[in-house]
Parts: sequence; C-alpha cells; structure tokens
Amino acid sequence: MHNPLEEKQRYNLIQGDCLSVLKEMESNSVNCIITSPPYWGMRVYDNEEDEHEIGNEKTFEQYVEKLIAVFNEAKRVLVKDGSFWLNLGDKYVDKGLLGMPWRVALALMDNGWILRNDVIWHQLKGTQSCKDRLRDSYEHFFHFVKSKKYFYDADSILIKPTKQPVVTTKDTVSSTGVSGKKYRKLIRESKELTEEEKVNAERALDEVLSEIREGQVNDFRMTIRGAQRAWHSDNARISGRAKELADKGFYIMRIHAKGHLPNDVWNVVTEDTWRTDSHCAVYPEALLRVPILATCPEGGIVLDPFIGTGTTVSAALKLGRRGVGIDLSPQYIRTSKERLIQTMLLA
Ligand SMILES: C[S@@+](CC[C@H](N)C(=O)[O-])C[C@H]1O[C@@H](n2cnc3c(N)ncnc32)[C@H](O)[C@@H]1O
Repeated sequence: MHNPLEEKQRYNLIQGDCLSVLKEMESNSVNCIITSPPYWGMRVYDNEEDEHEIGNEKTFEQYVEKLIAVFNEAKRVLVKDGSFWLNLGDKYVDKGLLGMPWRVALALMDNGWILRNDVIWHQLKGTQSCKDRLRDSYEHFFHFVKSKKYFYDADSILIKPTKQPVVTTKDTVSSTGVSGKKYRKLIRESKELTEEEKVNAERALDEVLSEIREGQVNDFRMTIRGAQRAWHSDNARISGRAKELADKGFYIMRIHAKGHLPNDVWNVVTEDTWRTDSHCAVYPEALLRVPILATCPEGGIVLDPFIGTGTTVSAALKLGRRGVGIDLSPQYIRTSKERLIQTMLLA
C-alpha cells in the first residue's frame, strides 16, 4: 500500500487499470473523488486491445458490475467524510433508453453509498439524432457520500444576492421592496389569529426587519394563517411550514444576505478545447467548480480514476487543491501531463 501523493507533490498521474491501481493505494488517503467513466458501448478509446478497458462489456449488467468493483475500492481509499461525484450518460438499445446512470446509482446505493444529490448537467447544446423523440440535452452528475457526516463548505459556493435592501432612517425595504406594511395590516386584521398570536407575529416581523437593517437578511416572505394561499402541503405531518402555521399562526422565510446555495440543475456548455485531439468524452472544468470547492478542503486531494485528458486534476490545481489521476491509456496520460504543465504555468 502506498500514498497516492507525496507531501510535496501537487499532482500525480498513474498509467494502469484503475481497479489494480486503487488496490495498491492506502485507505482514507484522498478527500474527494470526481469522475466520468467510459459510457457503456459508446466510445472507442485507444485501449481497445486491453482486457481491462471498461465500456466494452457484452452486457450492461457486466458493465455495472465492473464499475461497482472500481467504486467499492475507491470508497476504501476515500476519507470517512469524503465525497464521490459521478458523471454518467445514458444509452438507447433497441429504441429503449437504458436508464444506465440510475442502474449504476442504485447499485452504488445497494453497496452502502449515500446519494445526496442528482445534479442535472444541462449541456445546452444537444444533438438531433432521430425524428421520433426529443433531443438529448442533459447528463446526471451524482453526489455520493460515505457517511452521514461529511465535509461540505456551503459558504464557498453561495450565490450572492444581486440586489441589496434599501435601509433609510424612515423605512427599511428588503431587496425586492418588501417593507412589512402589508404583513402588519394582515396580522392586525386577521380573524384567524388569537390576540397572543398577533402580538407574536408582529414581534417576529419587527425582528426580521431589524435583521435587514443590520445586514444579516436580504429579503423575506411572511405567511399568515388564513391570509394567503400557501404553496406547500397543508398537511402538518408532511410539511414543517404547515405545522408552524398551525402551531404559531405564521412563519417567516428568510433569504440570508450571505446568499443561497445553487440548485441541482447546472447549465454548463460541453467542452471543445481538449476534445479535438482525442476520442475521449471530456467534461468541462466549469462543471467541477462546485464539487471541488464544497467537498474538498483547501490543499486536499481530488482523485479521478478515469482521468482521460486531465480535466479533474487541472480544475483541482486551479482551485488550490491537489490531484491524482489514473488512466489505462498511455496516450491519455501523456495528454494529461501536457495539459497539467500548462495549468501549473498559469497558476
Ligand atoms: C470518459 S473518459 C474520461 C474523460 C475525462 N473526464 C476528461 O475530461 O478528459 C474515460 C477514460 O477512462 C479510461 N479507461 C477505460 N478503462 C479504464 C480502466 N480500466 N482503468 C483506467 N482508465 C480506464 C479511458 O482510457 C478514458 O480515458
């Protein structure tokens, strides 16, 4: 067993079959795994003759089995609070969509991985291959973890509000112009709230307005029992908001000044630059920004067992992390090396 990266090394590229290479790696030695394996029956890499090449299996069941073997070994190498991001595309066989990403995801869940997000990578372009169905324009990017407690730096990926609240000596107005006057009127005129609930609701309204003045909150919405249409289930057993409304007579949704987390549909155009000299399905570095910032600590190690043209390690280096890449193809290892020399020159 050996460390995938010496203390002083920024990156390491290893040529070989990833399952065999992973088996030699020390347990708990990388912080994050991000990868896009070969899709089943889709691409031809230059390892065609190699029995270890993944993607050429006769059946998709064999393909899923091979991937699971690799990712189980990768799990051992990943630290306890680490994350694993998996990008996979789908395939049609005899007109039927296989649902391959989900077949692999479900098998991973059966093997103990916890699925935290199914990010839809909306590629914006999409090709027209036939006339009796819609164009394909997205792929899945699954986020798995090893344990319920895992490293997640949410602050590093917050989307900052573009508009700021207006705060004057006379009035305070949230970034979308909410001053609280209408809410106060609804509370005072409510026939549903008890006197005590009205006092509590006005106190909560004053509190959130003062949070806006102090810059902690950027915007808010208030729902008052019986006064507006509620956008959630009104079953208090299903919805926390319905329960709060039933118990207290109101609830307040705050939009924090620090910003909000991105949602799970990412619009990122596919990569062209590194595609020209290879058959490899390259993903763009922009797709890896959130996974690296949120789930790999600064200076930590990102591993890609199917490194292809070096994208994962290049993105990791640019964001102040270190990287390890494995690929079966000597040609792709050479391409990755050339790319990483350029990345380091720019860093
Ligand atoms: C979809 S490409 C990865 C592309 C990469 N994300 C990028 O941006 O360049 C998949 C890669 O897996 C490699 N590969 C296939 N079987 C492998 C195996 N058993 N071990 C390691 N690499 C393998 C192929 O050579 C290919 O470079």
